[in-house]
Amino acid sequence: MTTNASAPTQVTERRTVDVPGRSPILSALQEALPLPVHDGGNGNGARRVLSPKRPAVETAGLADAFPYYAGFSFDWATSCISNTQLKGVLTVLDPWNGSGTTTLAANTLGHSVVGLDRNPVASVVAQLRCKVPMNVEPIRFSSLRIRASARTQNDPLNYWFDDITTARIRAWTSHLEHASPSNRTMGLVAAFRAVRSLTKHFEGSNPTWVKRASENEERLCFTHSEIDEAFFSEQVFLASRLSSVPRTSASVSLLTADSAALPLATNSIDIIVTSPPYLTRIDYAVAYARELAVLGIDVFSEKTLRKALMGTTLTRQASMTPSLLGPMAEALLSDISQHASKASSSYYMKQAKQYLNDLNSGLRESARVSKPGAEMHLVVQDSYYKDVLVPLAEICIEEAKRYGWELQEHEMFPVKRLLTTLNTSARAYKKGDVSESVITFTRRKHD
Ligand SMILES: C[S@@+](CC[C@H](N)C(=O)[O-])C[C@H]1O[C@@H](n2cnc3c(N)ncnc32)[C@H](O)[C@@H]1O
Repeated sequence: MTTNASAPTQVTERRTVDVPGRSPILSALQEALPLPVHDGGNGNGARRVLSPKRPAVETAGLADAFPYYAGFSFDWATSCISNTQLKGVLTVLDPWNGSGTTTLAANTLGHSVVGLDRNPVASVVAQLRCKVPMNVEPIRFSSLRIRASARTQNDPLNYWFDDITTARIRAWTSHLEHASPSNRTMGLVAAFRAVRSLTKHFEGSNPTWVKRASENEERLCFTHSEIDEAFFSEQVFLASRLSSVPRTSASVSLLTADSAALPLATNSIDIIVTSPPYLTRIDYAVAYARELAVLGIDVFSEKTLRKALMGTTLTRQASMTPSLLGPMAEALLSDISQHASKASSSYYMKQAKQYLNDLNSGLRESARVSKPGAEMHLVVQDSYYKDVLVPLAEICIEEAKRYGWELQEHEMFPVKRLLTTLNTSARAYKKGDVSESVITFTRRKHD
C-alpha cells in the first residue's frame, strides 16, 4: 500500500498489451490466465469492492496512532470481513499484519483474530490498537532518576541522539519494563512517536529510509524535561484516541513470527485479510530503524531482522536453494536476469528470487492453515524493475492457485505515484501505468 491509488478501475478485460517492459514470455503466460469479468457483485453494475488505499489522513480504527507505512484502510478491512458469506464467530488471520488494521477490524466485529508480523515494531503498534483498554492513564517520569551508570555505548539511539539524550530515553524504556502491560505498550508507542518527531530532519524524500548522524555534532541534544514532556504528551494523545475506539472481548492474538512458517494449526482459519510487502525493495527494518532502536535493536550493525523480512535488499544464503515457483514468477526472474543493466543477472535476480520464494511460502502456509471454503482478500501492487513490469497480482494469483486458492474476484485500482520515481536512476527507464489490486480467493473444498 505504497501509493496514491485514485478512482478504482473494474477489471473487465485483460490488460496485457502495450505495456513497456512486458516480456513476450510473460504476455503469453498472462493471456493463458483469464480473469473473471463481473458487475461488482450486486447485479446492477455498482461496485462492491472499496479501494483499500488508506486516506491521506485516516483516524478510523486508530490509524493515526502511528503512521505505519503501507497500511490499508480500516474501512476496507472491515468491509472484507463484514461482507463475508461465512456464518458465526469466525477466526480471521493477517500473516503480514503490520500495524494491526485487520486485527482491529476483526475484533470490533466480534471475531477471533490472529495477526502476525516479523517486525516487532508492528506488533507493539497492533497491541496498542487492539488490546490497550480505553481507560489507560498516561504515566509521568519526572521523578525518574537516571543511574549514573546508564550506558549509552553501543545504544542504537546514539545514531541520532547524543549520550545525555540517549540515556534519558533509555531510562524511560527501562522504566516501562516494570509498568503494566497496557502502560508499557502505550509508553512504547509514545516513545516511537516522540523519537520519530524529534528526528524528523533525518528523513528524506523516501519515506522508507532514514539517515543517521554522520558526525558527533549532528547528534541531537534535548534536555531531560524536553524528553519527558514529549513522552508524556504523546501518551496523552494516545490515551485520548484510545477512548474513542470500542473493542470487543473477542480473542486477539498478536505474534512476532514469520509468514513462511505460521505457528498455527492446519485448517484453523476462516478469513485472511492481508497485504504482503511488494517487490519494491522496501527495507521495513530500516524504515523503522528508530522505533527498533527504542526497542534496543540495532538494524545497522545486526542484520538478522533485516535479512528475515520479506522484500529485504539483503540476500540470504539459504534462499538460493531451488524454488517451487510457477511459470510466471520464473519468467519474471528470467527477464530480470537478462536485463542489460549492471548486476541484473547477479544481485537483482537473487533478490527478486528470494522475495518470490518468500511470497510463495507465505501463500502456501496461508492455504495450509485455512479451512476448506475459507476466504482470502489480498492487496498487492504491480511495480517495475528498471523497465520490466513486475506483474505481482498475476504472479500471486498463479502461486495461490497452486496451493488450492480459487480466484473469485480481481479488482484493480490505478496508482498515481510509484515509489521508484523518487529514485533518479530508476526514473531513467520507461514505465507504463501500474495498479494496486484487490484479489479475492476461496480455499478449495477438496484437494
Ligand atoms: C504491506 S505491510 C502490511 C500493512 C498492514 N496491512 C497495515 O494495515 O498496517 C507488510 C508487512 O509485512 C511484514 N513482513 C515482512 N516480512 C515478513 C515475514 N517474513 N513474516 C511476517 N511479516 C513480514 C512487514 O514488517 C510489514 O509490516
